[in-house]
Amino acid sequence: MPKVFELGFVALAVADFARTRDYYVDTFGTTEVDREKDGTVYLSLGYHHHDIVLRPADGKSLLHLGYQLTPGIGLDAFAKDVRALGLKAERKTDSQPGIAELVEVEGPAGNVFQFYETIDAPAPGFKSGTVSPLSLGHVAVISPEAGKLIAFYRDFLGFWETDWIGDLANFLTCSYEHHVVNIVNAPLSKVHHIAFQLQDNSHQFRAADRLIADGVPTKWGPSRHTAGHNVAAYHYDPDKNLIELYTDMDVFVPGLGMCQPRPWHEHYPMKPRRWDPQFSAWEVEFGFDLAQG
Ligand SMILES: [Fe+2]
Repeated sequence: MPKVFELGFVALAVADFARTRDYYVDTFGTTEVDREKDGTVYLSLGYHHHDIVLRPADGKSLLHLGYQLTPGIGLDAFAKDVRALGLKAERKTDSQPGIAELVEVEGPAGNVFQFYETIDAPAPGFKSGTVSPLSLGHVAVISPEAGKLIAFYRDFLGFWETDWIGDLANFLTCSYEHHVVNIVNAPLSKVHHIAFQLQDNSHQFRAADRLIADGVPTKWGPSRHTAGHNVAAYHYDPDKNLIELYTDMDVFVPGLGMCQPRPWHEHYPMKPRRWDPQFSAWEVEFGFDLAQG
C-alpha cells in the first residue's frame, strides 16, 4: 500500500507572474482561493483548497509537489521514516493556507515535497466555458539523478512502476491511474510537463478551442500516447511551462499488476513493459523536443 494516495498540488515559482496568474484563472478556469503578502496565489480547480500554487519570482522553477498521505500513517510517524532514510523532514504548522499541518521533505536530487493528511475543501466549484480540467493528474520531472528519485517513489513511498520508454522515461503510480509521476532521466533538473485530466474526449476539442481563442496554440495533439495510452494535447502556459491535457488514461489494477484491457492495447494482459522511444501510438511526430520540455 503506497504511503500516499493522491498528487494534491504543484507549486511553481513564476517569472511572468501577472500573465501566468491570469491565464490560470481566466483561460484555465481555476478560482483564486487565497493570496499571501508576497503575492503567492492559491488556485483551485473546483474542490480542493488548491491544486496549483504560483509564487512570483525572478526565474521559473518547480518549488515542490504536494502529496496527500494515505489515511492512518500519521505525520509524525511519516517524518520519522523519512529521517531514517537520511533525508531532511521538517514539520510545519500553518505554513500555507488550506493545509494546517504538513511535513516538508528535501527529497533526492533537490526535489522538495510536502506531505499532508488533510486539505481544506472550500469547493468553489468547477468553471464552465474555460479549459476547466477535472483534476491534476501527473507531473513529469527531468532529473540527472533519476535513479535516486525513482527509488524514493518506489521503495519508500510504495509507488508501482507501470511502464518505461527506453531508458528515458519511467512511469509510476500510487493509484488506479497509469501514472501519477513520470521521471525523465536526463542531465537537467526541471519540471518537464504538468498534466491535467479533462472530462472526456470531446472536452479535448472544447479546451483547444478555448485556448486558441485566448491566443494559446496547441503544440502537439490530441494524439494517443504509447505508455499510458492517454489521449494527450500539449501547450505552454505564459511562463513556458509545458501543460498536458489528457483523457482516456489506462486504468492500472495494482492487485493484478496489469492495466484493464482496452481495444487499443497491443498485447494482453498489458503488464508493465519497456516501450520503444515512440511517444505516439498513432506515430504522430512531435513538433517540439519532448526530452527537453
Ligand atoms: Fe504526461
